[in-house]
Amino acid sequence: MSRSKLSFRELAFESPAYFESIKLRDRILRKPLGLQFKPEDLVREGSDYHLALMDENAKLIACLVLTPIDKERVRMRQVAVEESAQGRGIGRQLVVKAESFARKKGYREMSCHARSVVLPFYLKMNYKIVEGPFTEVGIEHYKMSKKL
Ligand SMILES: CC(C)(COP(=O)(O)OP(=O)(O)OC[C@H]1O[C@@H](n2cnc3c(N)ncnc32)[C@H](O)[C@@H]1OP(=O)(O)O)[C@@H](O)C(=O)NCCC(=O)NCCS
Repeated sequence: MSRSKLSFRELAFESPAYFESIKLRDRILRKPLGLQFKPEDLVREGSDYHLALMDENAKLIACLVLTPIDKERVRMRQVAVEESAQGRGIGRQLVVKAESFARKKGYREMSCHARSVVLPFYLKMNYKIVEGPFTEVGIEHYKMSKKL
């Protein structure tokens, strides 16, 4: 799969592509921890932005969620890249596009709770540690932040 053929999309809440993103998030982020999404986890997501990269066959390869905190601050959550596509610059491409998307909406700061195993990924994307470590979903995390 070629990086250049990926297209960036905003997914409408509860659209078929949104449910594809739930499957990817479940497989990449939840199942390895012995967890799975419940309907009540998802009802809150109606006011979030759901962003994704699709391949040339419109298959969803990577996704993330942006949750507004207030007018200027937004939280990036649930960053997931299809396992077979990891380590090829796709996560970086999605985060860069999401930052630009957020900037255009008027947000000035992006934060996230990064799993400590992927701390180097966010450090390379110029996020700074602002808090932590702390435990969330049973694993160590750091709060990180970046001015947009
Ligand atoms: C973490 C994740 C989103 C990164 O996406 P990716 O497409 O694999 O990463 P990229 O190829 O874009 O990597 C960008 C840079 O970060 C580095 N990087 C990415 N993941 C890394 C990791 N786990 N450990 C160390 N460095 C990492 C890459 O080496 C690359 O560095 P470079 O620019 O010097 O070459 C993806 O691997 C993933 O979905 N992992 C499983 C789910 C997860 O942990 N999500 C994050 C929850 S906080």
